[in-house]
Amino acid sequence: MKIAICGKGGSGKSTVAALLAREYARRNRAVLVVDTDESNLGLHRLLGTGAPPDLMGYFGGKRAVTEKIMAAMPDPSSVDLIGERWSIDKIPQGYVASENGVRLVAIGKIHDAGEGCACPMGMLARQFLDHLDLGDDDVVIADTEAGIEHFGRGVDQGADVILMVVDPSFESLRLAEKVSDMAARIGVPLCCMLNRTDPISAARLRERIPDSVRIVCEISQDPGILAAGLDGRVLDLHHPAITALADLLDGTQKGRA
Ligand SMILES: Nc1ncnc2c1ncn2[C@@H]1O[C@H](COP(=O)(O)OP(=O)(O)OP(=O)(O)O)[C@@H](O)[C@H]1O
Ligand SMILES: [Mg+2]
Repeated sequence: MKIAICGKGGSGKSTVAALLAREYARRNRAVLVVDTDESNLGLHRLLGTGAPPDLMGYFGGKRAVTEKIMAAMPDPSSVDLIGERWSIDKIPQGYVASENGVRLVAIGKIHDAGEGCACPMGMLARQFLDHLDLGDDDVVIADTEAGIEHFGRGVDQGADVILMVVDPSFESLRLAEKVSDMAARIGVPLCCMLNRTDPISAARLRERIPDSVRIVCEISQDPGILAAGLDGRVLDLHHPAITALADLLDGTQKGRA
């Protein structure tokens, strides 16, 4: 199962990715987290792994990939960066960090001012997810960057389900409408979870989220999560909402099989 996690900046995407990864690892599933966010650097800390080198490096680095893409203009979609299909075990080991049954791959980070746009990362993220062959029990969790750029890049098209994290903000509500439209257009099931709520904000979100968006669980503002996020510590909390979410996502997948 491939799960793409999306949402507004700071809504809790990486937090949820880490909690869900630990939950599936506890169930002895093969778990791969794919960090497709080219800006933020802290996901590995929430997972308790080291920081893996950019997978972009395996393909010659960002400059080489950019040159390949430019050479293929005006049809960049003709570029096949990966060439072969990979299982989780076949991913080049030097580019995988792991701990406690969770593996992490980072597509590529922006390292320098003026280094150019992040399009090569978007293309590699999409192709990497598309080229991954999974066993029935394997779980891939793609943590995306804030907003909807990843939809434009086609990263979500390779997912079996999109999980949107909604925090109590007007921007999250607007984004929920947009994401609902986009997910419907690419034919990928969408569900959403509320995060960082209190009872009042949760009730208001439930009133205002479009009916087309299925709300599957909720995590309230949680001091333990906040403290781990602030200190850059591993998130190994056992949260009942995440247990329910993992069950539900499994069910979604079985329903589609
Ligand atoms: N339920 C929660 N309770 C308390 N704090 C939370 C909760 N969920 C997330 N946070 C905190 O909110 C902040 C943002 O979370 P996180 O980094 O997971 O968001 P994000 O959506 O991945 O952000 P970005 O868009 O920058 O990638 C972090 O400090 C995190 O610890
Ligand atoms: Mg994040």
